[in-house]
Amino acid sequence: MAAVNISTSEIDARENDSAEHGEQGSDSDRLDSDGLGSHGLDGDGLDGDGLGGDEPSTDEQGARPAYGYTEIDSAGARAANRHYWDSEAPSYYAEHGDFLGDVDFCWSPEGLRESEARLLGDVAGRVVLEVGCGGAQCSRWLAGQGATVVATDLSAGQLAQARALNDRTGVSVPLFQADAITLPVRSESVDIACSAFGAVPFVTDSAALMREVARALRPGGRWVFSTTHPFVWCLPDAPDANGLVVFHSYFDRRAYTEHSETGEPTYIEAHRTMGDRVREIIAAGLVLLDVIEPEWPEGHNRVWGQWGPLRGQFVPSTSIFVTAKPG
Ligand SMILES: C[S@@+](CC[C@H](N)C(=O)[O-])C[C@H]1O[C@@H](n2cnc3c(N)ncnc32)[C@H](O)[C@@H]1O
Repeated sequence: MAAVNISTSEIDARENDSAEHGEQGSDSDRLDSDGLGSHGLDGDGLDGDGLGGDEPSTDEQGARPAYGYTEIDSAGARAANRHYWDSEAPSYYAEHGDFLGDVDFCWSPEGLRESEARLLGDVAGRVVLEVGCGGAQCSRWLAGQGATVVATDLSAGQLAQARALNDRTGVSVPLFQADAITLPVRSESVDIACSAFGAVPFVTDSAALMREVARALRPGGRWVFSTTHPFVWCLPDAPDANGLVVFHSYFDRRAYTEHSETGEPTYIEAHRTMGDRVREIIAAGLVLLDVIEPEWPEGHNRVWGQWGPLRGQFVPSTSIFVTAKPG
């Protein structure tokens, strides 16, 4: 794996570090986040003017904010999300593992698979970097297609799931613990980078993420990522009719933030408008080739958080950006 300049022993060291710093908050502090970057508000927070959710809410005792929209820096978001994903990794896999497939590349809750979409082009013989790999299901599928993969994720908990899946499936891919804005690869060493809802919805500085992936890509390389559709920011986190009411400003770029009783952020989701996303891609020196807004497939009834067949009839909940580095 010549392109990578991080060792597996470094992964172990960072995992220990993660465990040491993973004491804040508790599961009971969390709202019903679906782990896909779509804020946890389910519509119950709507106040009389239909514009609720702007101000931090309070917990049952009324003493501390439990969630709200806040300005938060990269380090704060990283710490909160690392802790969140470390603790949620087993339940995320238990709930979604069957749907994702242990050796499969699923772009989104609509069930769009890379085997049919072919957004990455021909991967055989290419070095492919996965950002926010979770259980590394996508990397395992890519390896089966003949790619040399590098699977990265912020969370030691998610990477532990990935390691277990490596063992269980017999398709073993190399795993590296890394924040998406400091990727453990040399400049211009990667042919293709991809991310299925990994990192992009959770980093507060997604412009930096775009620049970092652009740095890693060789000229002519491709970067494809799926993330929450920007429009979803306006809607409550509910798959039923409650989720069809515009209740929050599309233009509010503050992060959706959940807090522990001591006020520590425990979960962060960030937002960019469609225009922001395009500008960040272009500012990183990349070319935007396509934006896919997967439509809800006929007969697909699986609900994932706020993603489901009802809303899927009316609006997109996922966007997939296909970009390339000129050269
Ligand atoms: C919704 S999961 C998606 C995982 C996987 N791609 C899938 O489809 O199941 C989001 C993943 O992004 C990772 N993540 C969140 N923030 C990150 C960051 N700043 N850098 C790298 N990974 C991050 C989480 O640890 C988690 O594994």
